[in-house]
Amino acid sequence: MAGFQPFNIKYGEYPPSFEPYELVIERSLEDMQEVFYDQDAVKKTLAKDNPPIVKVWMAPLPNEGGHLMSCMTVIYPGTIGDEYFMTKGHIHTDPVNDPEYYLTIRGEGLLLLQTREGESHISEMVPGTLNYIPSEWAHRTVNTCEDEFVFLGIFPASAKRDYSFIGVGKKNFNKVVVKRSGKPEVTDHP
Ligand code: PA5
Ligand code: MN
Repeated sequence: MAGFQPFNIKYGEYPPSFEPYELVIERSLEDMQEVFYDQDAVKKTLAKDNPPIVKVWMAPLPNEGGHLMSCMTVIYPGTIGDEYFMTKGHIHTDPVNDPEYYLTIRGEGLLLLQTREGESHISEMVPGTLNYIPSEWAHRTVNTCEDEFVFLGIFPASAKRDYSFIGVGKKNFNKVVVKRSGKPEVTDHP
């Protein structure tokens, strides 16, 4: 018998679901406070609340070469100050062999992409669009709608995420997505 058996994942959008999964990552504001540019707004929010921001389900697959990982991410709606809820953002450590696809299931958002040299690119994420992320681009997703923003990711299962360049006093992404007059606007990081 073959070493690894075929299997199916069932995913749903209302409410977001992904079965079977091996791991769920849940991040609230406290877990990722350093990614938001307005640190006063972070402190003010945390003084009264610790909102959930991101939930990720990972498929039951080994983190090894030869497999393709899939996962589902939900970003809840909201802002910290005027900056929309988003993921931490990371780059894959192998700049050649670890590209990724994102497929939006529900809601809409923006994909911030940036190379280590500082080149940036913004892509829209909406149902009906498949976003391709080449290996050498850091990626962060932003929920720009008033509802849950839900998307699938598919990437080599051996890929490693590097978050080290993000945070207060570090480089961070050079673009931020803020809510201006009720609409998303991309501006330079203050
Ligand atoms: O593999 C991916 O790129 C996604 O599963 C992300 O890890 C997920 O969306 C959460 O983003 P981050 O890990 O940057 O907080
Ligand atoms: Mn990734």
